[in-house]
Amino acid sequence: MNLAHRSIAALLFAATSLSPTHSLAQLEGSKADTTPTSHPVPAIQDTETSAQRDARMEWWREARFGMFIHWGLYSIPAGTWNGKRTTSVGEWIMNDLSIPVADYKALAKNFNPTGFNAHDIVALAKSSGMKYIVITAKHHDGFAMFDSKVNPFNIVAATPFKRDPLKELAEECRRQGMKLGFYYSQDQDWTAPGGSAYKTGNHDLPTHHWDAAQDGDFDTYLHTKSIPQIKELLANYKDYPVVIWFDTPTANMTPARAAEIVALLNQHPNLIWNNRLGGTYKGDTETPEQYIPPQGFPGQDWESCMTMNDTWGFKSFDTNFKSTQTLLRNLIDISSKGGNYLLNIGPDSKGNVPTPEIDRLHEMGKWLAVNGEAIYNTKSTLFGGEAGSFSSTEKDKNGKPKFVAAWDWRSTTAADKIYIELLTWPNGTFHLDKLPRNVTGAYLLADPSHTPLKLTRSANGLDIQLPNKALDPIATVLVLKTL
Ligand code: GLC
Repeated sequence: MNLAHRSIAALLFAATSLSPTHSLAQLEGSKADTTPTSHPVPAIQDTETSAQRDARMEWWREARFGMFIHWGLYSIPAGTWNGKRTTSVGEWIMNDLSIPVADYKALAKNFNPTGFNAHDIVALAKSSGMKYIVITAKHHDGFAMFDSKVNPFNIVAATPFKRDPLKELAEECRRQGMKLGFYYSQDQDWTAPGGSAYKTGNHDLPTHHWDAAQDGDFDTYLHTKSIPQIKELLANYKDYPVVIWFDTPTANMTPARAAEIVALLNQHPNLIWNNRLGGTYKGDTETPEQYIPPQGFPGQDWESCMTMNDTWGFKSFDTNFKSTQTLLRNLIDISSKGGNYLLNIGPDSKGNVPTPEIDRLHEMGKWLAVNGEAIYNTKSTLFGGEAGSFSSTEKDKNGKPKFVAAWDWRSTTAADKIYIELLTWPNGTFHLDKLPRNVTGAYLLADPSHTPLKLTRSANGLDIQLPNKALDPIATVLVLKTL
């Protein structure tokens, strides 16, 4: 079971085992457990106080919404190799179709993504309401999308493109005020001798390799490629990265080996990094992938990462794009549970972002331009289990009890306001039977005049008189003033 599935199974177990009272922990915001652990090298999470953690995570918690970019050599085959289509995600084509190392590496000489435009990508993220970008610096295929002096299998040394997209993105992010992070596959590397490989198909045991060129010593890979490239990423892009996104640790990433990487991360005390380094290090953020944990992660920082279609890396035939309604309601749902939404784009082999992804992001940006106050710099819902319950009869795609959302609204919280994101339009009035705060007034956020709405208090709660029509078909935000 690969990490993504293992982490999902673990998270679902955590979610189902949470009692409603646990979700109240969410109300106090993220009070990280900073009890020092017995790591060979203590990580910042082991030693900092809650206040220090809150200060370090502040921008990230306020951001709520980021852009994931999966882009690399795999965008050339785009899901098809020698006429055969991969059934996996686009960036796993080498593994899924057991492509020999030499054949895969030969792609580099044809990689010339002249359509890549860092300004346009950063501007797209910005206009979409995204506050940070995380791009694949090196994925499991081992190809570095940056100028690496450590290993020649990279976009500057091995392709006719000869440019460093990470450098160009960093310059544009600096110019446009966007945070920039790097995804780095620290453990899996399917083209470097000794790099790990997750099991798929009938690959050799115990390495799960499919080409003798992959065989070698993991420590050699770790010390001649992985760690030196992480050093390059941390040193060569000035004030970036602000996030390092590790992925798919294997048993090779022992605490001692992970500690060598942590020693590097500790030299960048403001850096945020996720829970996928391995070696028992928790990192800063839980990373539920392609799903939203029904109760969030009370008391922890977490980020749900998702594709817009079904693949991270570009696949020419994956046109199964989620609707803007689904994407926006995911963002609203995640925000109401105190998490971040890292939404992926997968540029093609020329460096162009697929139009369906651009269109959806523009539409999300329009909603956020009007209603972003209810998302950015807010805390999770004060209504606890408003999200629903687990069915005693229906199962979800993982065979676990299906989570049934109880209400067709969500809520986020500010110091002096409660936001109610109405996903369907109640006829006449919106009723709340429990009030976590005293409500002094109400209006619709998208109403430019913030026309006061009629409140009727009774023994069984509060009724808010609403106009006949919603102001937005996807979600209309009702603002309850609570000062
Ligand atoms: C999984 C996949 C990887 C992808 C990641 C994104 O770990 O293995 O290809 O980059 O999910 O979260």
